[in-house]
Amino acid sequence: MAKTDSSPVSLTGHFTGQVWCRHDLSPPHLGSGLGRVLYRAQQPFGWISQQIYGSNLESMLLVRHQLMDDLVRADIENGTTQILEIASGLSGRALRMLEAYPDRDLRYIEADLPQMMAWKRERLTPAQKQDKRLTLCDINILRESGAMSLPSVLAANVDPAKPLLIITEGLVNYFRLPVIHEFWQRLHAELSTFPSSSYLFEIWPRLPVYDESKMLKLGLVAIEMLTRQRVPLHFTGEPEIVEAFEAIGFPQVDVINPDHTEIGRQFGALQKCLFRVVRAST
Ligand SMILES: C[S@@+](CC[C@H](N)C(=O)[O-])C[C@H]1O[C@@H](n2cnc3c(N)ncnc32)[C@H](O)[C@@H]1O
Repeated sequence: MAKTDSSPVSLTGHFTGQVWCRHDLSPPHLGSGLGRVLYRAQQPFGWISQQIYGSNLESMLLVRHQLMDDLVRADIENGTTQILEIASGLSGRALRMLEAYPDRDLRYIEADLPQMMAWKRERLTPAQKQDKRLTLCDINILRESGAMSLPSVLAANVDPAKPLLIITEGLVNYFRLPVIHEFWQRLHAELSTFPSSSYLFEIWPRLPVYDESKMLKLGLVAIEMLTRQRVPLHFTGEPEIVEAFEAIGFPQVDVINPDHTEIGRQFGALQKCLFRVVRAST
């Protein structure tokens, strides 16, 4: 295994995994001791952020996860049967979707760095392991070809004659823009070969609010300390995101501000959502 096949970013997967467990979005057996420790450590900051900013990381993660769930469900109901979720971490989304649509001919592939996948594989129940509709595989988005690359994961697991949805959640801002942009170009090249396909992901742009709030800057520094790397914010807002993805070659790019959605409104105070959910289709 190459050095780049493991990453401190996986720590954040334990944290988000614990958030999903706490809110019944993931079964308790996908929680981890590490996730519980990280969750407890951030609670005081979450409380302070809630008082000062009117929102916190946990509520934004919950909006993100559930909004993306809604969009995945919409895709399934429109006939998508193949889903590849990259950097799936300890998310319970695959299990929830497979349970919600027992009669659909779904194929859900979860992919992440080898250590994270090994951890998840060990914790699935025997019934979940035996479910032929679910596949867990290793991927490293930095690999362009060969084992663990996107082309090899697709070649081994999906039917090129059927529509495909690829998801990343909580991934793109852990890479510098030129690096993730290069991945998006390779992703687009792969998706273009399918009869219809979409890429669903969330992105945290450099919104003007960062210049006003020290609290937000501190939050970013805390994540950078945990992952021992920069967490760059990409683009300045919706127009730049659309422009970038159209330039890559996606003819249809929808950028959703969660504040303008039902799930965003349910979190009342969340009027300054810091991320956007994007659906780029071929
Ligand atoms: C913040 S976690 C998000 C996990 C999950 N999507 C969620 O929302 O709970 C980031 C994930 O990215 C994965 N990751 C980091 N670098 C990666 C890479 N080069 N290729 C694939 N996955 C990677 C980590 O292992 C981790 O599971």
